[in-house]
Amino acid sequence: MAKFTISVFGLGYVGLSTAVCFASRGFRVLGVDTHKERVRSVGAGRPTIYEPGLGKLLAKSIYRGLLSCTADYRRAVTEALATFIAVGTPNKADGTIDLGSIREASRQIGEVLRGKEQWHLVVIRSTVTPGATSQVVKPIIEDASGKECGTDWGLCMNPEFLREGSAIQDTLRPDRIVIGEHDKRSGDHLENLYKQFHRGDRPPILRMSLTNAEIVKYASNAFLAMKVSYINMIADLCERIPGADVSEVANGIGLDKRIGPLFLKAGLGYGGSCFPKDLKALQGFAQNVGAHLPMVNAIIKVNELQPSKAVELMKRFVNSLKGKRIAILGLSFKPDTDDVREAVSIKVIKALLDDGAEVVAYDPVATRNARRILGGRVAYAQSALECMAGADACIVVTEWEEFKRLRPEDFLKTMKTPVVIDGRRIFDPKNFQDKVRFAAVGLGTSDRAPRDP
Ligand code: UDX
Repeated sequence: MAKFTISVFGLGYVGLSTAVCFASRGFRVLGVDTHKERVRSVGAGRPTIYEPGLGKLLAKSIYRGLLSCTADYRRAVTEALATFIAVGTPNKADGTIDLGSIREASRQIGEVLRGKEQWHLVVIRSTVTPGATSQVVKPIIEDASGKECGTDWGLCMNPEFLREGSAIQDTLRPDRIVIGEHDKRSGDHLENLYKQFHRGDRPPILRMSLTNAEIVKYASNAFLAMKVSYINMIADLCERIPGADVSEVANGIGLDKRIGPLFLKAGLGYGGSCFPKDLKALQGFAQNVGAHLPMVNAIIKVNELQPSKAVELMKRFVNSLKGKRIAILGLSFKPDTDDVREAVSIKVIKALLDDGAEVVAYDPVATRNARRILGGRVAYAQSALECMAGADACIVVTEWEEFKRLRPEDFLKTMKTPVVIDGRRIFDPKNFQDKVRFAAVGLGTSDRAPRDP
């Protein structure tokens, strides 16, 4: 027997992972999306995104009759006890958050609540700027329903911290659950729902105000992005010091318990659907409320410069890029996903094309999505070796597991000139430096030795 019914608005990354994980824990779930093709595809057990473990869990949930998808939001809200809003919150042209889909979902829920007698819980799962849940969602639902929040219906803000590539594991086993509550009854209700979800093996549950929960999400992402930009800044320093290596430095820093080893991997910068968007939204929000966040500005600045490292390092070996064939390994913004939103690969490839290079790229799963952005300006290979064949230089942009198995001999055997740029620090410099022309982010060499003071 199903526990109870929830509905999830928005079947993107966050919504679909939430829906599938709740169904896998025995809840009945109604997934709602305005995108008809997405409803059809997910409803038939075909995920619209690549995410390890998602397809299997989705098929199982549908087979067990616990998950169904619909464009009919009225039915979904009517039948459910709680509705999670997991719609997109992109940036507007000026960088500030676009709450258009949140407003629309709130209006639809309110409209249904007008005719629903039973108490209903609304949970904001999307990332929204501080104050949005109480100042945007609440008044819209109250207006559309004619009912009072806290009395007739409940409201919580419950940010997600899932990473693409491990979204299912992160949803099933989060480090913590943050519940921002409008009132105690709403918070109790959501906490109870998560107690049923996690049974005996429950992560810490933190209860706080709606606004603090909203801030936790931004502060977490900004902190993680700060670690990445910090180590990329140290990488830049290392590149200018002969014999220095940021990977060893990161190990030395990370074992300090106060710092921690995660998110200290230097590379060509962060991308994806969250960090770039959320940091810009935070910057825009801070400006509007008169707050000064110089560290957030610095995180963004370091990250904007980072992709240019790829071409800069390559120019140590290749003078002019005109007519040169450059192999790009990896298109997705990180491994184990087909997502190319804000991917470093796109920036690197555009810079190479602008300099007159010919680009051939390979990615295990993201080629289709990259092609939508880059079109026919790039040649797409079917394997890493095919991509490298005849190339004048090769840049590792995404650290897919299969690239880590490449040996110097693979580059020597296939490329016209074996110039290898390790943009994600996946190769052992000791093994590569003597055999191919090798440069890597955060790796110092003698040709950039600083002058004597
Ligand atoms: C992130 C947050 O981790 C997650 O909690 C939030 O809900 C959404 O945003 P995600 O964007 O999926 O998740 O990926 P994440 O693993 O955090 O990586 C973000 C970017 O940082 C990637 O481009 C990755 O390559 C880069 N990164 C990460 C580094 O360059 N170095 C690191 O050490 C870690």
